[in-house]
Amino acid sequence: MDVSEIATENHQTAAVPNDRPTKNVAVLGATGSIGTATVDVLENLHRLDPQFGWRLWAVSGHRNVDCLLDIFNRASAGDWGPRRVVFSDAEAAAECNARERFSTSQQHHEHANTCQLLFGDEALVDVARSPEVDVLVAAIVGRAGLESTIAAIESGKRVGLANKETLVVAGDLVRKKLANSDAKILPVDSEHSAIFQCIANTNAEPKKLILTASGGPFRSATKEQMHEATPKDALAHPTWQMGPKISIDSATMMNKALEIIEARWLFDVPAERIDVAVHPQSIIHSMVEFDDGSVLSQMSPPDMRMPIQYALTYPRRLPCPAPELDLSQPMDLTLLPADLDRFPALKLGFEVAACGGTAGAVVNAANEVAVQLFLDEKIRFTQIVPTCQKVLENHTFESSPTLSRLLELDRWAREEACRCADMDG
Ligand SMILES: NC(=O)c1ccc[n+]([C@@H]2O[C@H](COP(=O)([O-])OP(=O)(O)OC[C@H]3O[C@@H](n4cnc5c(N)ncnc54)[C@H](OP(=O)(O)O)[C@@H]3O)[C@@H](O)[C@H]2O)c1
Repeated sequence: MDVSEIATENHQTAAVPNDRPTKNVAVLGATGSIGTATVDVLENLHRLDPQFGWRLWAVSGHRNVDCLLDIFNRASAGDWGPRRVVFSDAEAAAECNARERFSTSQQHHEHANTCQLLFGDEALVDVARSPEVDVLVAAIVGRAGLESTIAAIESGKRVGLANKETLVVAGDLVRKKLANSDAKILPVDSEHSAIFQCIANTNAEPKKLILTASGGPFRSATKEQMHEATPKDALAHPTWQMGPKISIDSATMMNKALEIIEARWLFDVPAERIDVAVHPQSIIHSMVEFDDGSVLSQMSPPDMRMPIQYALTYPRRLPCPAPELDLSQPMDLTLLPADLDRFPALKLGFEVAACGGTAGAVVNAANEVAVQLFLDEKIRFTQIVPTCQKVLENHTFESSPTLSRLLELDRWAREEACRCADMDG
């Protein structure tokens, strides 16, 4: 829905010629960890890419008005966007519309470069389908990112996919949609970006995809210690700065489970050809083994701006604001086997990846609910994965669900997760 029109000033930048063809990028979930990193990448590309004039055409947030206004002001001041600002939350949109900075900028309404403020989930889908958008960065967290990502795929966009939940919930459907459109998914998840980079220039079929996992804050913790873990303990990730949901997923290793499922659909590889290795330094982002025993890996310091930029510029490689590996100092690169006993989420991930059908949607919804219950201190850390297992067991499996059936099951699984988690007490 259109809330208002906001005028942005048209500043010229001197550093690069302004007659480059434009790449318009929509960043949905711009206020999050991936979203703000994407904005950094775009600002850099806007200034430095000699080939394209990169523009932040649209941004969305849910409730973080301050952050979205900061992005709006930063991009407007540099004349690299935006033309659409979307809040999925109506109250946040109203607050944004009432803010002085917006009414002040309306004084410039006579300028051609106007920016519309929109709200609601439908507005996210409209932006994703917008003919002006060349690339969509799907950085909304959770199942809330599904419809806009699918809309971008249906409209033939390049999609930089951070929202792994899209493939977890509807991987099979997304593959079918990709086969019928010009759309291309470029992975933003560092593990999948690494695999993509390892296989991009070869026709050889990978024998095994090996996802690396930092092990999260409880890599060396006992089951008893995990049982006592508080949200603060679980949010303290040793190597990555991330949003709260994925941070808890990393602590349970449900994040790796979701990535196993994501890899299954993204690379069309069966679950038994996917493996997990623990790598605490988060420098080797994943590996691919080939039939001759050769294993390729991709390495870089743990900074999401590298895989984000590659998803935007692929197949080109340009200087990136992320740090480079410092080889002047000794560096440990440890690889350890994954412990499926202490981290039962991994077993669940392999099981769901092998099942396909409705299993991913159900486990994803149960996990979103259980993570929130843990963050609200209503259940223990060690109840998160068993809650997901119970909801999976309680559902009636279907092998080829439609999107509306998946969404129905998503709603059912959320209620069921509350019930199962309550039963545990
Ligand atoms: N962070 C990482 O390093 C990383 C790495 C790989 C993959 N990923 C994946 O990337 C996605 C985003 O992760 P993140 O860490 O960036 O999360 P985050 O920091 O929590 O940001 C989430 C974003 O989604 C928005 N959002 C929240 N609820 C929403 C809703 N109901 N409808 C629409 N938008 C909503 C938030 O808006 P407000 O902030 O305005 O409320 C924010 O912009 C996740 O799927 C995650 O698994 C993240």
